[in-house]
Formats: sequence, C-alpha cells, structure tokens
Amino acid sequence: MTTTDAAVSRRRTNEIKLHTAEDFAGMRAAGKVAAECLDMLIPHVVPGALTDDLDKLVFEFTLDNGALPACLFYRGYGKTTCISPNHIVCHGIPGERVLREGDIVNIDVTMVVDGWYGDSSRMFGVGEVSPRAKRLVDVTYEALERGIAAVKPGGHTGDIGAAIQAYVESMRCSVVRDFCGHGLGRDFHTAPNILHFGQAGTGERLRPGMFFTIEPMVNLGKYPVKLLADGWTAVTRDKSLSAQCEHSIGVTETGCEVFTLSPAGLFKPPILST
Ligand code: MF3
Ligand code: CO
Ligand code: CO
Repeated sequence: MTTTDAAVSRRRTNEIKLHTAEDFAGMRAAGKVAAECLDMLIPHVVPGALTDDLDKLVFEFTLDNGALPACLFYRGYGKTTCISPNHIVCHGIPGERVLREGDIVNIDVTMVVDGWYGDSSRMFGVGEVSPRAKRLVDVTYEALERGIAAVKPGGHTGDIGAAIQAYVESMRCSVVRDFCGHGLGRDFHTAPNILHFGQAGTGERLRPGMFFTIEPMVNLGKYPVKLLADGWTAVTRDKSLSAQCEHSIGVTETGCEVFTLSPAGLFKPPILST
C-alpha cells in the first residue's frame, strides 16, 4: 500500500458513518439472522459436541438464510465461527475439540445480509455448570446491559466502557483490555473503537445513526491475555475462566436499538440466575 493509499484508508476508517433509517432496516435483517443462528445452536451445545460440527451447522444456517459468513477467509481466518470455551477469551478456532460437561463456551457469529454485518456472541453452558462459572456468565451479561444502557446521543463512547468497568470490578472480576467493540455496518470492523473500560466523557461523541458492537470479555481472575501460536486464540494469562457476550447496536435519537436480540428471547443463556 502506498503512503497515499494509507492516508486515504486512514481517513476512511477514522470517519464514523451516520446511517439512515433504511440502513437501520438493513442491520435489523442481518442482526436477526445472527440471533436466530445462535438460537438454533442451543440444543446442539451439549457434552460430546465437536466444535467443528457446531461451526459447520452455522455455515449451513448462514447460507440457508441467504447470508454470507463474514469470518471465513477474513484476514486468513479459516472458519465460520469463533468458539471459545473456559479460559479462552476470544477467537477460539473450531476444530477437533469436544465440549465437556461443565464447560462454559462463547460462540461468536457474524453474518452478512445484503451487505450489512450482523455480529453477535453468547455464552452457552454445557450440561451442569459450576456456581462460579454461572456467576461469571451472569456478570458478563449484566456488564453488556449496563454498557448498552449508557448509549445515548450526546454521550461519549467512554461512557460505555466506564459503566462496564465499574460494574465488573465491583463484582471482583476484570475487564479484558486487549480487545474492544467496533463500528460496523457495510464494513466488519471500522471506527469507532468501543473500549470496555475507561473514563466517562472521553472518546467519540455518540450521534444518532452510529452503528457499533459492544462485546465485553470478563475474566474471573486478572485481565492480561496471551495469544497462542495459531495467531488467533486469546487465553487468560492466569488460566482463569473468561466469558463474553456481544450485541450489534445502532444509536437512535433517544438511546439505541439492539439489532441482534433473539426474536425468541433466548439471548441470555438458561444457566443464568436472572
Ligand atoms: N466476530 C468477531 C468480533 O466480534 C471477529 C472475529 S474475526 C475472526 O469482532 F476472523 F476471528 F473470525
Ligand atoms: Co464484534
Ligand atoms: Co463477534
């Protein structure tokens, strides 16, 4: 890439797009397929399930619903989903790993529908799950909800991170620093970055028409992560359990619209106490 190309691309990626009502409709359609896909997975996430088979199910579901898998071939990634059990923080690669009773696992899917990206992930409990794992999953969902509640036009991206961090740390868990939410729309990863920690009133001003994800990763132990040799899998350095959940949202005149809510009301896993 030439310097001029870099300058042009930097300008493009630094600009935060403000989307139209029609664009909201596009995101609603993409978000719905992502949510229905995660709903579809629920009965399949059981002890003995092969992560590669879950990935294949998502691939089939994606095509059957007129969507394209966003992750497949994205920066050399070779699968449709990311599947991240236990101490894997994010970007776990589906393969020969078999899920076991007591695992907690994040499954992250991104669908492209008519050019719009719907990106969402949830936690699944595999069989009977320990109380401490349940609590971590609970805290992670509440963290996402508090982040979403902080989205208001006139506010700042930093309000989201501040709300998430304050809550998570009050529960004696930690917020992963090395990955963040991101703008999306007709692009997969664009401006703004949504940090899940930080100061209220900092960052970008929130305006109606902005689209982005909120996807906090929460650890039972300390927040540092390390990347495995495959170049994708991020794990907790202290091997503590980690959880994540993700919605794609759009800023409205009064707050925000969540594009990836489950039409069947199944976004929160049944292992949650709330
Ligand atoms: N869906 C992930 C996110 O939330 C991105 C995965 S990129 C992949 O942004 F290449 F690892 F699939
Ligand atoms: Co995302
Ligand atoms: Co995702």
